Amino acid sequence: RSWTDVGALRAAAIGRSVLLRGAARSVAAHGSRLAFLVLRQGMDTVQCVVHAGPSVGPGMVRFAAALAAESVVDVEGVVAAPRDPVLRATARHVEVRVTSIRCVARASRSLPFSLDDAAAEAEAELEGPGTGRASVGQDTRFNHRAFDLRTPASQAIFRIQCQVENKFREFLLSKGFVGIHTPKLNAGASEGGASVFKLRYNGQPACLAQSPQLHEQMAISGGFGRVFEVGPVFRAENSKTPKHLCEFSGLDAEMEIKEHYFEVCNVIDGLLVAIFEHLNENCRRELEEINKQFPFEPLKEAGTEVEPMGDLNTESERKLGQLVKEKYGADFFILHRYPLAVRPFYTMPCYDNGAYSNSFDVFIRAKETFADATTGQEIISGAQRIHRPDLLAKRAAECGVDVSTISDYIESFRYGTPPHGGFGVGLERVVMLFCALKNIRMASLFPRDPQRLRP
Ligand code: 4AD
Repeated sequence: RSWTDVGALRAAAIGRSVLLRGAARSVAAHGSRLAFLVLRQGMDTVQCVVHAGPSVGPGMVRFAAALAAESVVDVEGVVAAPRDPVLRATARHVEVRVTSIRCVARASRSLPFSLDDAAAEAEAELEGPGTGRASVGQDTRFNHRAFDLRTPASQAIFRIQCQVENKFREFLLSKGFVGIHTPKLNAGASEGGASVFKLRYNGQPACLAQSPQLHEQMAISGGFGRVFEVGPVFRAENSKTPKHLCEFSGLDAEMEIKEHYFEVCNVIDGLLVAIFEHLNENCRRELEEINKQFPFEPLKEAGTEVEPMGDLNTESERKLGQLVKEKYGADFFILHRYPLAVRPFYTMPCYDNGAYSNSFDVFIRAKETFADATTGQEIISGAQRIHRPDLLAKRAAECGVDVSTISDYIESFRYGTPPHGGFGVGLERVVMLFCALKNIRMASLFPRDPQRLRP
């Protein structure tokens, strides 16, 4: 038997018999001889009409009308032009006149929440608490995440995420990078600080990888001129914020530097343009779906001061985004030459002034598609790395890193390692900002945060 995708149903198919499998998004009976069933497959829906007649008995109409919403059904029928002029005007332009229907997997009658309410939830949230709008609540949604993923916005978000990851690989492969996989169980931390998940590894102290960076650098030492990795990254974040997860998907790359660390920035520039152009050209529909559920909230203006030798805070990042948009009309921008003191131990100090470093952050602002979006937020950080083992050991000690836990890493640079640098992008962070989502959890299939280890 041949199966048809709901998304492939077009006016050109009118008159054809089709066999479809999908979820019963909604079921409605009109008297005893007519029932309507909206069938959903991923992001696509089609109306199926069960009308008693020569080939459809009243029993089949009763059966269809009694189906529990969200049950998985197989429908056979004939593609037709909808009788309803409103439906005729919808994107699909067709409906299916059902000749037979079979329930493949029955859904419970008590669903965890209404998917329509979940789709409306973000709007209610924007209006603020106490507005009296029905709201499912984010915790309820994440407690039943597999069910929640059926909302059109979630379907769209993860399709976009897949495209971002795919473009990242494709672009770097075209630039001579080699994809690698580094260990996630390690003896020492790479980014240090409190955000390390510690565990015991056969009696030894160990930790989960905070970044693939150190092993990627060792791969550079191993003779791979350019490497990248797509893999899990673990951060023991201890506070609940809208842009931090305890496990996220890292897109990381490391490369030899011939003359200047701007060579790394140039790769990032090409990479981001390739990714964003691809999304704008190929993911219009997904972006519209997301925007329906998560209308963009314009940010309130607030003045901020930036400490000369300090790091940026969220507010100053936003302000910068505004400035860059107004002045240059740019979608993303790179800030570099950060004070050395606010960067990790492996960061190369500036050759001309050791108080600064050869490091940078990349910020993006949300697209015009989301009203007058003017936010700038960090999506990437990167740097030239110290490739001289003595300086590396000195800097690690100065930064309070237990050098014994990373001695293999430092040792690997004793046998001639070229100057190199790299960067790390958070996949969920890019998707969140590109899609103007308010919370990174929406861009994580099964989010892990300080309070959430399930489902
Ligand atoms: O800025 P981070 O910590 O840098 C590193 O991991 C370095 N090894 C890379 C470098 O060359 N500096 O993380 C890189 C990116 C951030 O820009 C952000 O997009 C994302 O990873 N990120 C997180 N995403 C979600 N949840 C978290 N807790 C994140 N922490 C960082």
